[in-house]
Amino acid sequence: MTTPLRVAIAGLGTVGAGVIRLIDANGELIARRAGRPIEVVAVSARDRAKDRGVDIGRFAWVDDPVGLGRHEGADVVVELIGGSDGPALALARTSVSAGKSFVTANKAMIAHHGLELARAAEDADVALKFEAAVAGGVPVIKGLREGAAANEIARVYGILTGTCNYILTRMQAEGATFQDVLADAQRLGYAESDPSLDVDGHDAAHKTGILASLAHGFWVNPRHIPTEGIRQVTPLDLKFAAQLGYSIRLLGIVKKEGRGPVQVSVYPALIPQGHVMASVSGVFNAVYVRGDVVGDTLYYGRGAGAEATASAVLGDLADAALDLKHDSTERVQAFVPHERNGALQPPGGASHSYYLRLDVVDRPGVLARIATLLARGRIGISSVIQPEGHEGASVPLILMIHHAPEAAMARAMQAIGRLAAVRSRPVMMRVEPLT
Ligand code: NAP
Ligand code: HSE
Repeated sequence: MTTPLRVAIAGLGTVGAGVIRLIDANGELIARRAGRPIEVVAVSARDRAKDRGVDIGRFAWVDDPVGLGRHEGADVVVELIGGSDGPALALARTSVSAGKSFVTANKAMIAHHGLELARAAEDADVALKFEAAVAGGVPVIKGLREGAAANEIARVYGILTGTCNYILTRMQAEGATFQDVLADAQRLGYAESDPSLDVDGHDAAHKTGILASLAHGFWVNPRHIPTEGIRQVTPLDLKFAAQLGYSIRLLGIVKKEGRGPVQVSVYPALIPQGHVMASVSGVFNAVYVRGDVVGDTLYYGRGAGAEATASAVLGDLADAALDLKHDSTERVQAFVPHERNGALQPPGGASHSYYLRLDVVDRPGVLARIATLLARGRIGISSVIQPEGHEGASVPLILMIHHAPEAAMARAMQAIGRLAAVRSRPVMMRVEPLT
């Protein structure tokens, strides 16, 4: 067998330790497939003494993770620290400018700095790979960039955050509270070190931006992606949605109609219970891609956790080993080669039907006042649910709303929220038929 691909790894947490375990467990298989063994030569993290459940004493230890980018003995640097900037970004820049291929699972960094890094990698003729950054172990980056290369991409619908999907589906199944289930997701290693990245939708926005950039060939800055998380979703919403024939999922959405602008957004949505995306439960992710030639395709699998994510990192390393064999990085270059221009749809420009939950005082005339405010925005109600028997007390009032522009709906929500009979902030979610 030929010389090994020599790898330096920065970050030895959930994913980093998982990568070392996977190389130990499946090294021979990977070597047969990649044409050369993959050998870890150096590692770095914050605490050298920490027990990581894997023996790291056999690798060179480097205190400064950024120094790994210049490590003489390494062909490829793997970054598993996390964070859009800081040591992760410094390491990416150092590695690429030192002529080393770079593999990362860091969606925050790729979402914010991917274009800069892709250009630098192209200039340095090294590979930049980030399969693990979107949907964990699911090979959707390869699918979109390579498999769907002959297609115009009309739709991408993604369930992209294992933590949120785990929380929503357990809340639905058990009526559990958001906080209890979040604690379990953290314990299982699904959540980011700052879990607000997950539950406020930013992690999904990073991933959706990367998918949109790959699908449409222009850079989508995550700061320009309208983003809502799942904090406001309660077991009651999941129950009412189910009564109405829907499940609730946090979706990353990339939509393009003909030659129009591209809608890129992230929000929790009611999706039809009979749709395949509604069967995606727990930590599983799914990405539904519609190409004009191939039609609908579905990428499905574990979106988080040590093993699934390590599987994607090792896939990238196997690619890097093959690159070395063929002395080529062209096959797997990142964003740069297909820069057709496109434009993002401005926020508020889309139209949807909606689910609206209000906490209202149960007395005559309240529904009429709400209906009047909606009618002022030319917004129609399609159905109403109100549990009976709470005269005088505050009760949930569920309204299903006909198709209306987001901007008109936002104005109506503000006006409704100001009514004295409305006791807490209205909760509004879009209905997404996934057509
Ligand atoms: P993690 O468990 O928190 O591990 C982070 C590692 O980075 C730790 O080993 C830590 O060192 C090290 N580190 C942190 N700050 C550092 C610094 N300033 N200098 C040197 N080392 C530093 O994180 P993770 O879950 O493995 O995630 C790693 C990356 O993979 C992130 O970009 C994440 O978004 C991405 N990702 C994670 C998953 C998942 O399921 N967890 C899935 C897909 C992608 P110590 O151990 O010494 O503290
Ligand atoms: N925190 C992320 C999730 C990890 O929950 O999906 C995988 O990117």
